[in-house]
Amino acid sequence: MSEIKKIAVMTGGGDCPGLNAVIRAVTKTATMKYGLEVVGIKHGYRGLYLGGSEFVNLTYDNVKNIISKGGTILFSSNKDNLFDYTYEDENGNICHGDVSDVGIKNLKDNNIDALIVIGGDGTLTSGRDFSRKGVKVIGVPKTIDNDLAATETTFGFDTAVANAVDAIDKLKTTAESHSRIIVVEAMGRYAGFLALAMGIGGAADAILIPEIEYDINKVAECLKNNIKRGKEHAIVVVAEGAKPKGGEIFVSKVVEDSPDPIRLGGIAKVVADQLEKLVGLEARATILGHVQRGGSPTANDRILSTRYGAYAVELLMQGKFGNMVTLDGNSMSYESLENVIGQNKAVDPEGELVKIAEATGVSFGR
Ligand code: F6P
Repeated sequence: MSEIKKIAVMTGGGDCPGLNAVIRAVTKTATMKYGLEVVGIKHGYRGLYLGGSEFVNLTYDNVKNIISKGGTILFSSNKDNLFDYTYEDENGNICHGDVSDVGIKNLKDNNIDALIVIGGDGTLTSGRDFSRKGVKVIGVPKTIDNDLAATETTFGFDTAVANAVDAIDKLKTTAESHSRIIVVEAMGRYAGFLALAMGIGGAADAILIPEIEYDINKVAECLKNNIKRGKEHAIVVVAEGAKPKGGEIFVSKVVEDSPDPIRLGGIAKVVADQLEKLVGLEARATILGHVQRGGSPTANDRILSTRYGAYAVELLMQGKFGNMVTLDGNSMSYESLENVIGQNKAVDPEGELVKIAEATGVSFGR
């Protein structure tokens, strides 16, 4: 007989298409295959700290019809690290410190035997720290950036690419009508996977990614050659983390109380202004921003999310605590939470996708 009777699931960090599909798969596998009880913890670790009405029972009824829904029915927070938490004590004083034991007590008081945390680096780091304190934790990685080294692909990436390609298709018709350059800024933080995929899928003329420092003159040269070939408009995709040769990354905001406070952005306008001068076509900048993260997950992401969620429950039932679910090739697998934190991957500047893009005339500004 398994020692697991009741589990909890929560989502932390920025949202991502497919979170609800994971919650659904966790709940269905746990209740229907194993007869477990499932509790959803709202607002990530903040809900774990607050307890009470933040803990909600999840049943078949709560998760039916959510596979196609974007966002997370459990809400999320990317600020609440219970190992370094700001809170108000009973006398109204603002205090700061490690309140992880409150979270552990709330799990115990609710008879919760194990916890599934769905999130990015910050959420998984806390998952690892709870695991070190004896909580039975399984992590499920999520990010539209697809930059986690331990797993082949994260759910949400496919949807973000599809959303962005759809936007580029629309931008292209207006760019063409006005003979303009439109510079489209992609998310992705310090990795160029998203920009590269949407640039190729959207048939961009240039793709600027963090892994290849660009020379704006080289980009301009490519667009001028296209004009000579009769193409009097252009789409340039620039990753928010891209950098000019010898230049700096563009920081748009510092979110002080976030575990990862730097927010990137703003490079598109600079690139557009430079290209307007160098190429001689009018240029505009579009920052896609959170449009990439919103809406219904693609069919592929629904399938991948279902696999991640169902496998997380399998790991719990096999007693493989302290691990994160991964996709290894095309098989579900797992890796210790101790080994995955802070392990990011980057686009290979000499890799197949970059080479194919260059072979089809795309400039990376090098
Ligand atoms: O990591 C996902 C991501 O969407 C990044 O691509 C982006 O830089 C960041 O989150 C934006 O964060 P926020 O939602 O806090 O603005």
